[in-house]
Amino acid sequence: MEKRRYVEECMQSTFKTFGYREIQTPMFETLELFTAKSGDAVIDEIYSFSDKGGRNLALRPELTAPVMRFYVDKLQMEPKPLKLFYFGNCFRYDRPQKGRYREFKQAGCELIGTDTPIAYAELIAMAYTILEKVGLKNMKLNIGNLSVLSSMFDVLKLPKDKQKYLIPLIDKSQFEDVLSALHNFGIKKEDADDFLDVLQTSDIKKISNYVKGERKAKEELSNLEKIIGLLETSFNVKNYQLKISIVRGLDYYKGIVFEIEAPSLGAEKQLCGGGAYELISMFGGRESPTAGFAIGFDRTIVALEAEEYQFPTPKIDVYVIPVNEDMTSKALEIVQKLRNQNISTDIDLLKRGIGKSIKYASSIDAEKVIIIGPKELEQDSMTVRDMKSGEQKLVNINDYPPSSQRI
Ligand code: HAM
Repeated sequence: MEKRRYVEECMQSTFKTFGYREIQTPMFETLELFTAKSGDAVIDEIYSFSDKGGRNLALRPELTAPVMRFYVDKLQMEPKPLKLFYFGNCFRYDRPQKGRYREFKQAGCELIGTDTPIAYAELIAMAYTILEKVGLKNMKLNIGNLSVLSSMFDVLKLPKDKQKYLIPLIDKSQFEDVLSALHNFGIKKEDADDFLDVLQTSDIKKISNYVKGERKAKEELSNLEKIIGLLETSFNVKNYQLKISIVRGLDYYKGIVFEIEAPSLGAEKQLCGGGAYELISMFGGRESPTAGFAIGFDRTIVALEAEEYQFPTPKIDVYVIPVNEDMTSKALEIVQKLRNQNISTDIDLLKRGIGKSIKYASSIDAEKVIIIGPKELEQDSMTVRDMKSGEQKLVNINDYPPSSQRI
């Protein structure tokens, strides 16, 4: 939990530095909230149950739909843009493996009320910055666009059912299978080859050229260029790649999408996923642009451990040892005084003698040990031992803690 709290605090403070504010929603919602638009992959994995009133409920598999429900219910009148972040446990009935759990935690955010290139650039930069600030070294940021992908399907005049067949293959980068599927659909070899070439390129000009007759794609690509420009020049995020083959597993996305992976994680390497989406009108609200992302919290910890990140070790400031029973009340008085000054302080509760207590103090990484004995006490003093240097000093009780240590 110490590692997790450390990472959580770091993420939380980064969200706040970008002007986001924290919210929380319930652990379960109506089942319908998730079946509406989350997509088959998520629906198959939902933990659902009916309550005593016969209502169909579900443990949340993610937080975007709950946050949008909350927004439509309570926050629509708030000034825009609305920048919300959250930490929450999610549940997916999935085959557990390294980095894939049935209960896991997400750190995520939703941005409501703006779809400008600067808004999207800031959102993507924030995801990247959070992981960077947490201490991750090895990450890959991929940026795609679902409207552009859809226009690419239009170039081949592929009907929706055939697109649906191809999407999971594209998602898993099974490009050989995409190629043979295109042949089976009767697409000419050179057209299929061109499609695959563009699907795998990160050259925006090549993509633009391919979809040049498609108005929506043109507009999205021009925005994408602005977003990338801002990421590089203003947000100093240079380590990204254009990847039109990103499809995301949830059905509510539209337009820009992005993912961050940590290669150190192996098979379950996706650390963060997000993009622009539409859910408000489906939940009965007034349409407003929305985008967001979620970071897999548990995977972040696993990735940091894989990179052998040195988490700060827990420390205690002071460990107090009363040398005998009679010293207990004075020792507790000192303990109280230190704790009231926010100095973390522990006291020997086992009466195990000075030698063993000092050993224990060292095992819990105490910085100082205070020994309260009768002779010293006669002069209102106590022994303060610095655990690093081993140096011991007689200190007047009223002079401790020194002002430099007071918080
Ligand atoms: P997602 O890609 O389904 O997106 O999940 C986000 C992150 O949660 C993943 O990148 C992954 O790190 C983590 N994750 C997902 N499933 C598991 C699991 N079974 N065990 C451990 N970690 C997991 C969403 O959930 C969207 N709601 C993100 C979003 C917010 N889009 C817009 N706003």
